[in-house]
Amino acid sequence: MTNQQSPITQKITLPKLQKLKAEGKKFVVLTAYDFSMASAINDNNIEVILVGDSLGMTIQGHNSTLPVTLDDMIYHTKCVIKGAPLPLIMVDMPFATYSTVQDALNAAAQLMRIGAEIVKLEGKDWLIPIIAKLSEQGIPVCAHFGLTPQFMHQLGGFKVQGRTKSGADDMLNNAKAAETAGAKMILLECVPTDLAKKIADQVSIPVIGIGAGKHTDAQVLVIQDILGLTKHPARFAKNYLAQHGTIQTAIKTFGQEVRDGLYPEPHHSFES
Ligand code: KIV
Repeated sequence: MTNQQSPITQKITLPKLQKLKAEGKKFVVLTAYDFSMASAINDNNIEVILVGDSLGMTIQGHNSTLPVTLDDMIYHTKCVIKGAPLPLIMVDMPFATYSTVQDALNAAAQLMRIGAEIVKLEGKDWLIPIIAKLSEQGIPVCAHFGLTPQFMHQLGGFKVQGRTKSGADDMLNNAKAAETAGAKMILLECVPTDLAKKIADQVSIPVIGIGAGKHTDAQVLVIQDILGLTKHPARFAKNYLAQHGTIQTAIKTFGQEVRDGLYPEPHHSFES
């Protein structure tokens, strides 16, 4: 059954996303790094824009996100905000800018001052005191668990996480602790479908998935992946431009498929 969404006409806020989770309705996240793409996303019913540090790869041509700086994130966030008055603006804190609570506060404050509405941090249990401090200071946080690309060298590459019992238990505990510390959202990347479901069921804040199966409260994809611009797309990528002809319809169809439970399919996801 099609869950046709009425057009978004009012600014998306964190309480609105929290309400969608409470009502069991899915929402949609896409990355953007510039004004034009942000405008297209704004006009096609997407609730959240992620100014992702994936821009290190998609825009800057690096083979990881590690070279991205806070100044890069500030520049791209300013471009995106001009084109996107409606979606919530989530911004990645880049590599090694949140190693201590004080560093995190300084870097996050710079992003919030220029218009970020929530910051995303990659990590594990060590993130919890940082989340608590940022939340206390009025900075909403999305905690990114699972495959955390800023840790690719430690992880040995871009690999599915949480396949062992202890890895899965740790991720669930970290997600619960993040919520208790004040996180407003969780993002799970490359996590087995059953584990992502367990986490989404056991926390009350929205859980966004990428390569985490169909049970999360929201899905995110990198805009280049839905436009067929990625040379070696990941398993979870889906080219919507090939089927739908224009960037606008590609974006809209991705959103509709997420809301209708048509994306992701099992072949976009991972098992334990
Ligand atoms: O940087 C990014 O675009 C991300 C997504 C892949 C979730 O973190």
